[in-house]
Amino acid sequence: MFNTFDAVLPIPSVIQKHDGVMPVSELKTFHVPEELQIFSDEIMRTAAFFGLRILPSPDPDADLVLKLNSGLGAEAWFMRIDPSSILIEGGGKAGLFYALAAFSQMLITALIKGPAGAVLNCGTACDKPRFGWRGLMLDSARHFQSKKTVKAVIRLMAHFRLNTFHWHLTDGQGWRIASDLVPKLSNLAALSPGQYTPDDLREVAEFAGRHNIRIIPEIDIPGHSRGLLAAYPQYACDPAVPGKEFCLGNPETKEFLKKIFAELLSIFPDNPIIHLGGDEAETTHWENCPRCKAAMQAGGFRNMRELENSFMVDMTHFIVEQGRTPMLWGTCSGQTYPADTIIQSWLDIREPLRVAPNGNKVVYSVHNSFYFDYPANLSEPFETWMFELSERGIYMADPYVIWEDRLKDTILGPEACLWTETVPEWRVMQKLLPRLAAYSECAWSPAEKKDWHGFLRRKELLEAAGYHDFLKENIHMR
Ligand code: ACM
Ligand code: ZN
Repeated sequence: MFNTFDAVLPIPSVIQKHDGVMPVSELKTFHVPEELQIFSDEIMRTAAFFGLRILPSPDPDADLVLKLNSGLGAEAWFMRIDPSSILIEGGGKAGLFYALAAFSQMLITALIKGPAGAVLNCGTACDKPRFGWRGLMLDSARHFQSKKTVKAVIRLMAHFRLNTFHWHLTDGQGWRIASDLVPKLSNLAALSPGQYTPDDLREVAEFAGRHNIRIIPEIDIPGHSRGLLAAYPQYACDPAVPGKEFCLGNPETKEFLKKIFAELLSIFPDNPIIHLGGDEAETTHWENCPRCKAAMQAGGFRNMRELENSFMVDMTHFIVEQGRTPMLWGTCSGQTYPADTIIQSWLDIREPLRVAPNGNKVVYSVHNSFYFDYPANLSEPFETWMFELSERGIYMADPYVIWEDRLKDTILGPEACLWTETVPEWRVMQKLLPRLAAYSECAWSPAEKKDWHGFLRRKELLEAAGYHDFLKENIHMR
C-alpha cells in the first residue's frame, strides 16, 4: 500500500512518516480562524467534490485545524496528521493555500476506492520554496483567452505553488488592452478577436492577488509591434511600409509609449514589476531611416543596437521614476541594462553569467527547457524555431545549470512561457496540465529531492486516483 504523504507533488522538503492512520470518516469538522475564511470555501469545495461532509466549526479543537504560524516564511507550510486530528499551518496565506493543495492530493489518493476504509497516514510534512520567483508566462496576444481561461490558469498555477503570472498582452498579432489611447486597435486580432477592458485587467489582478500570485504585465516594444504600427504608421520609420519596429529617431515615439505605459501602471497600481519586452527587434528599418540615422549620430552610437539600447534604457528609467521595477527579455546582443532592470534569459543559457557582474537579477526561461508551446512529442505539428520539449526535459532543467556558486544571488527563479502562435485558447490547458507537475518540482522543491522515477510514481498514483478530473473541476471558479 502507498503512504498518502507520497502523493504530495511538488515533493516537500521534509516528510516524517509515523505509524498509524486517521480514517477519513473521522474527519467531520474543521476550524479556520475568522481572518482566513477564504480557506473555509476551499475546504468545502474540496470536500464537496469527494462527497465528504466536513463542516466548519467554531471549536479550535476541530478534527482539522488551520492556523497561521509566524515562525514560518510566508510561503512555507507545515502539516501534522495524528490518528484523530490534523493540523495545517502556513507562514502566510500562500503557505496555507499550498498546504491545502497538498492535503487535497493526499485525500484524493486516500479516497481512490471510495470513502469506506479510506485512511490518511500519520506523520508530518514541512515545506518551503527553493525559488522566490516561480513564474508562468501566458501569451494572450497571439491567441486571446477569455477571462475564464486566464483565471483557470491562475488557479492551476496556485495549486502548483507558482507565484508569478507574466502576462504578455501585446504583440504583432494582437493588442489586448482596450485603451482610448489606441482605439484603432480594438479590431486588431490576426488570429483571434478579443480585448480586456481596464476593469477586466483589474479583476484578473485582484483574482491573482487572492491566489498569492503577482502579475507582471508586458507591453512588448520596440519590436513585435506590427499591428500597432499598421494602425498608427506615424510611429514607424516609413509610414508607407510600417514594419514591426517603432521609429527610434522620432521624438514622438517615446512620448507616445510613455503615455501607453503610464496607462498600464494606472491599471496595475499594485504591481511592482513591469515588462517592456525588448526582444527580437530588427535593425533594418532603423538603418534605412533618416531620423534614426540622425539620432544615432547625435547620440554618438556606433550602430543601431546601441541606439536601441539607449532608447530602452530611457524607457526603463521612466518605469523606475514611476516607482516600479522594469523587466526585459535578454538581448543576447551584448547590450547591458541598468542594474535595477530584471533580465529574462530566454535564448542563451550563459546570459545570466554575462549580466550577473552588472548587478541585474535574472529570471530563467531558456527556451529549450521552458517554452511550453514546443511540442511534447513530434506527433504534434511544430515550427522551425521549436525544439522537442518532453516532460523529462522540463523535469531535468535547473536555472543554475552548472554555475550555482556564481549565480545563486542573481537568479530569482524559473519562468515557463506559453507562447500561443500555435496554441488556440482551447489548447491552453492541454499544453499546461501535463507539464506543470514536472515544472513545479523544478521551481519549488529542493534540488536534492528531485528524482524522476519517484516523481513518476507520485504522478501516476495521483492520475490513477482521478486527479486530472479533480483539477479541472477545482480550477474553474463559478
Ligand atoms: C522571445 O521568445 N522572443 C522572448
Ligand atoms: Zn526611424
